[in-house]
Amino acid sequence: MFRTHDCNSLRKSDIGRQVTLAGWVNVTRDHGGVVFIDLRDREGLTQIVFRPEENAELAKEAHSLRSEDVIEVSGRVAARLPGTENPNLATGDMEVIPNQLRILNRADTLPFPIDAEPQNEDLRMRYRYFDLRRPRLARNLRVRHRVAKATRDYLDTQGFVEVETPILSKSTPEGARDFLVPSRITPGKFYALPQAPQQYKQLLMVAGVEKYFQIAKCFRDEDLRADRQPEFTQIDIETSFVTPHDIFAVTEGMLAAIFKAARNIDIKTPFDRLTYREAVSRYGSDKPDRRFGMELVDLGEVFSQSSFKVFRSALDAGGVVKAVNAKGFAGITIGQADELTEIAKLYGAKGLAFIKIENGEWKSPIVKFFSEAEKAALQSKLEIEEGDCIFFGADKWEIACEVLGRLRLRIAEMQKLRTAAEIWDFLWVTDFPLFEWSPEENKWNAMHHPFTRPKTEDMALFEAKKFADVRAEAYDIVLNGVEIGGGSIRIYEPELQERMFEALGIRPEHQQSQFGHLLRALRLGAPPHGGIALGLDRLVMLICGEETIRDVMAFPKNNRGLDLMTNSPGEVDPRQLRDLSIKLAREKKV
Ligand code: AMO
Ligand code: AMP
Repeated sequence: MFRTHDCNSLRKSDIGRQVTLAGWVNVTRDHGGVVFIDLRDREGLTQIVFRPEENAELAKEAHSLRSEDVIEVSGRVAARLPGTENPNLATGDMEVIPNQLRILNRADTLPFPIDAEPQNEDLRMRYRYFDLRRPRLARNLRVRHRVAKATRDYLDTQGFVEVETPILSKSTPEGARDFLVPSRITPGKFYALPQAPQQYKQLLMVAGVEKYFQIAKCFRDEDLRADRQPEFTQIDIETSFVTPHDIFAVTEGMLAAIFKAARNIDIKTPFDRLTYREAVSRYGSDKPDRRFGMELVDLGEVFSQSSFKVFRSALDAGGVVKAVNAKGFAGITIGQADELTEIAKLYGAKGLAFIKIENGEWKSPIVKFFSEAEKAALQSKLEIEEGDCIFFGADKWEIACEVLGRLRLRIAEMQKLRTAAEIWDFLWVTDFPLFEWSPEENKWNAMHHPFTRPKTEDMALFEAKKFADVRAEAYDIVLNGVEIGGGSIRIYEPELQERMFEALGIRPEHQQSQFGHLLRALRLGAPPHGGIALGLDRLVMLICGEETIRDVMAFPKNNRGLDLMTNSPGEVDPRQLRDLSIKLAREKKV
């Protein structure tokens, strides 16, 4: 037997007991020949004290122990000497006086100290199995487990069935690039790794499963960010005979169960809802962070007759003039103003006008163009006070909203408004546009995916090919400004699905080769259905208070998509390539 207790369980009532513990040497200290060791396992720490006067042999051996050596210790539980207790530790009143020590394994020089936050992320990734010993990451893995378990438990009570779908599958468009796997048996052909189990889950509805879910691995070859990995996990859900409200209710119930299980937090349901149009108008984003104010205010009325050309011409061209009031930000530095101007330009603005309210004065080169009436209207609409700083966007609706939305987030970061208190602001965003125009491809793309239904009210617009105005029966769920999930009610009529493909510029031959299975299935009695997928990694990231999903995944890729621990992707044996009938294009010799 390696141990009788874990390192977090000895209490006063155990005094005098003979116990065996096993774990890692967390820290060792030598106080005049007495060796103190904090022994660590996944549950916690226990102090072991080797005193030469009690056992000279053992104390000498203990002297050789280094951080992260793995040992097994047997001994007697004793109370710590008065005044040496550690109130920060559950086992802080106790220590173990050993009579036996087994060194199970030694640790080499450590890649980085385990008790500090390593700055070099590549080093952490290279030694990920070591990195994961750190308590914060160890906790994150366990929270993730509890989230997954609560998900399964809750959905099980609601009659959902977990079904696994293939990883070697067919390309399904979710807006990213596919990862491809060459087939050996059919040379020249490829499987695609699923960007999501979207079509399989719809086919399961045709199969009569009615309530499907899966904690599903998804693969997307796209640019990586803090909340994006090439390989990630979804809580994927699909149900038959449902309206969006049914999906909202099951998602809200599931999230309540998850928060209770993972953090013992009671979240408030039902969640608020905003339409896409309203979210973008008021927050400049389809995933608004509402934990602080600074909403976008429309100033179209104020400036409709203005003599300030920049604003007037935006309005005359059918655009908008909007502004945000950053309270208490009049002390903005030149560096901050430059950065915000850069952001504005990056998202398409021609410039960034702002006004600082200092010593009762409105400071900005544009103020001289404003009439008294315009100033008074601004004052009341934006509730302007001493110390405020007002930022303007005058452009097409999309651009003005996006620019001010980005500024709003960056200003909130500058003012440290985004992370103040632990708030859980859940929000449904509904009524997304069905299509978005791609200027590069000169065609309409599906904003969500090609299986999403147009809203019944907008069917006439769809028929009339007024694609810019058609709204989708699609919804996202947002938590604290992060998109944690998205879904839709699907097209279940084969003719409508064909018309949708046509609208997306997918020719009939291609419809058959790419989506023939789905179109055939829709002709065999497909029930009305819809669903949602939540990004499990993002959800766990927020629950753990982490800034990146890498910190809640056991073995993530770095921001260049590399696994530095196993050195993957890596080269393969030429024979393997030959088996796959693959020839690499020769690189230019250097
Ligand atoms: P969608 O593409 O919106 O919908 O994805 C659902 C959720 O998955 C998470 N997510 C990611 N997380 C980490 N890394 C990524 N690269 C990544 N991409 C997406 C997000 C997102 O909200 N099949 C549809 C769902 C449906 O219609 O039912 C789908 O995949 O949190
Ligand atoms: P200009 O007349 O181009 O010198 O612009 C006057 C002020 O308005 C400057 O501070 C510009 O940065 C700003 N500005 C120009 N275009 C826009 C715009 N589309 N939205 C907001 N501010 C702008």
